[in-house]
Amino acid sequence: MATRRMTTAAAFRCTECGWTSPKWAGRCGECQQWGTVVEAAETTGIVRSVTPVAPAAGRAARPITTIDTTEAPRRTSGVGEFDRVLGGGIVPGAAVLLSGEPGVGKSTLLLEVAAQSARAGRRVLYASGEESTAQIRLRAERTGALDDELFLASETDLATILGHVDEVQPELLIVDSVQTVSSSMSDGLAGHPSQVREVASTLIRVAKDRALPIVIVGHVTKDGSIAGPRILEHLVDVVCHFEGDRQTSLRFIRTQKNRFGPTDEVGCFDMTGAGIEEVPDPSRLFLGNGKPVAGTCVTIALEGRRALPVEVQALTVATTAPNPRRVVSGVDSSRVAMILAILERRGRVRLSDKDVYVSTVGGVRLVEPGADLAIAIAIATALREQAIRHDVAAVGELSLSGEIRPVSQASQRRTEAARLGYRTILDERSGGIADALRLVGAHAAAPVDDGDVPDF
Ligand SMILES: Nc1ncnc2c1ncn2[C@@H]1O[C@H](COP(=O)(O)OP(=O)(O)OP(=O)(O)O)[C@@H](O)[C@H]1O
Ligand SMILES: [Mg+2]
Repeated sequence: MATRRMTTAAAFRCTECGWTSPKWAGRCGECQQWGTVVEAAETTGIVRSVTPVAPAAGRAARPITTIDTTEAPRRTSGVGEFDRVLGGGIVPGAAVLLSGEPGVGKSTLLLEVAAQSARAGRRVLYASGEESTAQIRLRAERTGALDDELFLASETDLATILGHVDEVQPELLIVDSVQTVSSSMSDGLAGHPSQVREVASTLIRVAKDRALPIVIVGHVTKDGSIAGPRILEHLVDVVCHFEGDRQTSLRFIRTQKNRFGPTDEVGCFDMTGAGIEEVPDPSRLFLGNGKPVAGTCVTIALEGRRALPVEVQALTVATTAPNPRRVVSGVDSSRVAMILAILERRGRVRLSDKDVYVSTVGGVRLVEPGADLAIAIAIATALREQAIRHDVAAVGELSLSGEIRPVSQASQRRTEAARLGYRTILDERSGGIADALRLVGAHAAAPVDDGDVPDF
C-alpha cells in the first residue's frame, strides 16, 4: 500500500462531528461536546491510498435499468398509528430509531408493537439493556401483552444479543436502548459515542443481511436531540421521535427522516394505566366544551398531514401597569406580540392598557402562522366580551399590513372543517383584519344563559 506524509498531523478526532486536532481536548472545539475527542489512529499523519480490488461475483455495478424492482412487501406493525408514521408498515430489513424523553412511553409502545406482531404469529425478540425480564413481564401483564411468540432477553452485550437472534430467529428485533448496549469491538463504556456507533452499525448490518426489521430505542439529551453521535441518524432508515407533555396523557410520534415514506405523518396515542392506546381521530381533543364563550376561536391547524381543529382562548384584563402582561401557553409569545401590534394599528383594537392572556386547549402547541387570525379574533372578542357561533372557524396568517394571507393545504383544512360541522370559515376571502373583525360581529352567538353566577 502506498503511503505519503501529511504536512500537519491531526492525531485526535471528535467522534460526534469529525473535528480534528493535533492536541487532545476535553471538549470538542467544533460541536462543544464533552469527552468526545479520542485518539484517531487513522489520522496520525499518514495518508494511505487504497488499492482497487475486483468486486466479488454477482456484486458488479449494473445499469439501473437492469436492477430488480420487486419491492419487499411492507407488513403492519399491528399498531395503526405507528404504521402511519412508518409510511404504511414495517419494511423487512429496515432499521428504525425511536427516540424520546425518559418516561414518555417508548418501552410501553414497543412492547405493544411486539405483542401485536407476536399475536399475528411473527416471532419477536425484545432485548432490553435497561430492565429485567421480570420487570418487562410485569408491564406486559398490565398492558395485556403476553404471548408465547414474544421472547425477552435482558442483555447489554451486543454479541450475546446477536446470539439470541440466532437462537430465537425472530421476525422483528427490538433493542431498548442503543445507549445501554456495548460491543467488545469498541472501546469505552456503553453509551459512549464510539460504542453507540459500533452497536448501531452492527445491528443495521444484521438487519440488512437477514431482512430482519429492527427498532432501536435512543435516549435524548437535555436539548431534545438524540444522545450519541449524529451519525446514528444517518445510519438508520427511519428516525422517529416520541413526544408528549408530562401533564397530559397525549403522545405524538413524528418522523424526522424516512427512507421509505413521507416525513409529515404524525401518530397520535393516549397513555393510560392499561398501556398505550391509538387515537385514530384526534379531532375533538383540542376543543373546549362547544358552548360559545367570549374570547375563544377555533382554527384548523395542520399536524403533519392531519388537519386538526384547535381552540384558542384569550382573556383581557384592564391594567394601569406601564408594561401590561402578555402571558401565553401553547402559542409563540413573539407571534402574539406581533398579532397584538397588528390588532392595535390595523384593527383599531386598543390593547395597550390591557393584560392579555392567550392559551390553547388540551396543551397542544400551535406553531404555524395559519393560527394568527384565530388568535387575533380570540383576543378581540375577549375584549368585546362577544362570543362567536360554534360553527365558525378562522384560518389565516396575518401580515404586518393587516392583510389575511392564505395558508398551505387550505382545501384539506376546509374538508376537515366541513366534516366536523364548521360551516363558516373566516380566511383571506374575508378581507383584511378589520373586515374580519367586523364579520365576527355578524357571526356572534346569542348570549348563553349560564344561570345566576354567585357573588363571592
Ligand atoms: N403501573 C403503572 N400504571 C400506570 N401507568 C404506568 C405504570 N407504570 C408506568 N406507567 C406509565 O408509563 C410511563 C413509563 O413508560 P415507559 O417505561 O414505556 O417509558 P420509556 O420512554 O421507556 O422510559 P425510559 O426512557 O425510562 O425507558 C410512566 O411515565 C407512566 O406514565
Ligand atoms: Mg424504556
